[in-house]
Amino acid sequence: MIKPLVAGNWKMHGNTETASHLAAQLVAQWSDRPVAERSVEMVLFPPSVHLSLVKGAVAGSGIAVGAQNLSQHGSGAYTGEISGDMLVDQGCDYVLVGHSERRDLFGESSATVAEKFKAAQSSGLIPILCVGETLRQRQQEQTVAVVTAQIKAVIDCVGLHNVCRAVVAYEPVWAIGTGETASPEQAQQVHRAIRNQLGEVGLSTRLLYGGSVKASNAAELFGQPDINGGLVGGASLEAIEFFNIVKRAE
Ligand code: PGA
Repeated sequence: MIKPLVAGNWKMHGNTETASHLAAQLVAQWSDRPVAERSVEMVLFPPSVHLSLVKGAVAGSGIAVGAQNLSQHGSGAYTGEISGDMLVDQGCDYVLVGHSERRDLFGESSATVAEKFKAAQSSGLIPILCVGETLRQRQQEQTVAVVTAQIKAVIDCVGLHNVCRAVVAYEPVWAIGTGETASPEQAQQVHRAIRNQLGEVGLSTRLLYGGSVKASNAAELFGQPDINGGLVGGASLEAIEFFNIVKRAE
């Protein structure tokens, strides 16, 4: 049995006040049960400037914290960048790698994504590798080819075993922030293809679905056999809504 994970990607939203308030609300909701009895893991991805604040706010609650991005370099003259070791130092357990906004808006190639994945694991972080097709690629029936190629680029760099000990998030680009969600069947079909690609080694790898996940559609999505939780953007900025999504994964 794979323990589901529900991740909240706050993207570039909020300030110190809203970040600490949101974290405190989630802790209050989440604290009704001992950590050991929880059947879902919750991870928050605040902007990097709010990492230590949020880490402090969730201390002792069992909620984990991760970063939205990292440098592929270990250290050095890379103005504006943040290394994996720095994120660990801030209390991060996870890091997003290859989010479609990084690929599309910041020109991250699959090769760069693979290097970032490798850097994350060398620092002891668990990467959440995001993959997904555009609407055009889906219309051209290239979905599985695109997604498996994005994963293969990372397998070629770090090996299958290392990809399987990370988390993979399938996020169709056309469903991110649009209010449109893949149907549970569409999502499951891609998740099954990913599971097949990872083979035996990946039988217990967590595969998340992302793209306009809400409390109203989460149960059906999380009920699919190869969907082990979600990566949530917009809906993670609302404590009650996000907490209801987390509960759907139980
Ligand atoms: P969304 O974002 O839930 O707002 O669609 C998901 C994501 O970008 O991870």
